[in-house]
Amino acid sequence: MPIRESHLVQALEPFKGFVLSTMIFTLQQSGLQAALAEGTTVDALVRDKGLDRARLTAMADYWVAAGLLDRSETGVLTLTPLAHRYEEARPWYEMMVGGYGGTFLALGDHLAQGTGPAPRRGGYVGSGSCGISMHDSIPLLRRLLAEDGRSYRRLVDLGCGSGVYLTELCGDYPEMTAVGIEPNADGAAAARAWVAGQPTADRVTIEQVDAVQWIENTEEKPDLAVLAFVIHEVLGQEGEEGVRRMLTKLFAESPDLTLAIIDIDLKSSDPEAMAQPLAQAYYNAYLLMHPFTSQRLETKDWWNKLFAECGLRVDAFDTTDPSMDSTGFAVGWLLRKA
Ligand SMILES: C[S@@+](CC[C@H](N)C(=O)[O-])C[C@H]1O[C@@H](n2cnc3c(N)ncnc32)[C@H](O)[C@@H]1O
Repeated sequence: MPIRESHLVQALEPFKGFVLSTMIFTLQQSGLQAALAEGTTVDALVRDKGLDRARLTAMADYWVAAGLLDRSETGVLTLTPLAHRYEEARPWYEMMVGGYGGTFLALGDHLAQGTGPAPRRGGYVGSGSCGISMHDSIPLLRRLLAEDGRSYRRLVDLGCGSGVYLTELCGDYPEMTAVGIEPNADGAAAARAWVAGQPTADRVTIEQVDAVQWIENTEEKPDLAVLAFVIHEVLGQEGEEGVRRMLTKLFAESPDLTLAIIDIDLKSSDPEAMAQPLAQAYYNAYLLMHPFTSQRLETKDWWNKLFAECGLRVDAFDTTDPSMDSTGFAVGWLLRKA
């Protein structure tokens, strides 16, 4: 018995979403958005950007059929309101499709013991994450720091991605200089390019090195350190002992340090938390890929215990602004030596 067409359409809905999300990412990364926002044609794009006509035509036809572009009778292509709506979520596509798209396809190959980590594209992970952070974790970090009310002069951002925390915080603290630590070559290059174009460029440097190595070899004594969505990377790579060593060394060198940690409260087995719309749209996939990419998420209670055992005191704790993200998955601590 052949499958009924209505059943086939229903069964292929997820596949439609799979290709659609890759094509939203492709549109956003194509460098064509500005021309398409103004209105342009396939002919003009082929001529001005040196694109392959047959491939661009196939893409344009797809985007029109999927509702991302309108095409006039004279062939002028323009972005639709739907494409503008997707553009608001650009960094989520950058991280989850650009950074982890290949990871999701490889999950099945990396389930067996000893299969090693699945691939990911670190540059897109770092820059997408920083784009998301502009919406959620940087406002959270600002709130934590404002409640605390201190001033800072020397910042280290450990795992700085494309570097937005560095420039945002240097903007907030006029006396501050900052160093961004980023082991991924694409991430470090993106951070250098971002910083160079910002008004605080002369106060920020980037070093391409692993956070643990940097802490073990530096003579720097920062008064503010940020680990935003990075301590779970170190936990996955170096284990619990590695995290303890990193925190101990950081505070041994700089006993008056304020350490801001932003990370995820692992609630993947909490049915109520996972039923929330944003958990279904985003966190369910986000939580899934971590163990496959040498990352280890833990609950906030697990982290609280580890911080206490490392001799740290929690001076402030908060979660994201509920008008942007009410799930409570992303949480932030300000830590000092107890
Ligand atoms: C999820 S991104 C977070 C980027 C940025 N901190 C943010 O909050 O948006 C994680 C970053 O940590 C970096 N990373 C991974 N392992 C690291 C390590 N051992 N030391 C420093 N950074 C690391 C990755 O390359 C990536 O840029």
